[in-house]
Amino acid sequence: MHNQKKGNRKPLLLINTLFVLFLAGLLLVLFNAPEETTSHLPHDPNHEQFHAIASKKEAEKNCGACHDPDGQAPLPENHPPKFRCLFCHKRK
Ligand code: HEC
Ligand code: HEC
Repeated sequence: MHNQKKGNRKPLLLINTLFVLFLAGLLLVLFNAPEETTSHLPHDPNHEQFHAIASKKEAEKNCGACHDPDGQAPLPENHPPKFRCLFCHKRK
């Protein structure tokens, strides 16, 4: 009985070691991640008012006025899915 218990320890040690190595690798990837490149919400007369609206969801209701396809500044054709503008174009 006693011996059997001891025998089961080794796989557990192996799994723990692999888990620690996995976490170390994950941390390495996170620390080496490239800097965020998506443009921030600009600070200019067009956009200043939206920095002041606390709720992202409320602020985003106004973006289409200029950034819709027929607005003054339509989004580029290859723009990613555009729901929730401010999740990607952060305010700073
Ligand atoms: C009154 C019109 C107007 C509204 C409303 C507006 N924008 Fe813009 N936006 C512009 C114009 C014009 C440009 C291009 C010139 C510039 O950078 O100001 C622009 C540029 C941008 C850019 C690119 C900045 C860069 O660095 O290239 C982002 C991101 C952006 N807008 C996000 C938003 C978001 C998010 C909203 C809603 C919260 C919004 N805009 C509302 C007119 C507007
Ligand atoms: C899933 C993330 C995401 C969302 C959501 C999003 N965008 Fe973008 N947007 C990008 C990326 C990535 C680019 C490519 C250029 C870059 O790196 O900023 C871009 C480009 C733009 C540009 C062209 C100027 C520039 O910075 O290259 C404008 C203007 C813009 N987005 C406005 C908006 C508006 C307005 C909304 C909401 C209706 C929105 N975006 C939602 C990721 C996003």
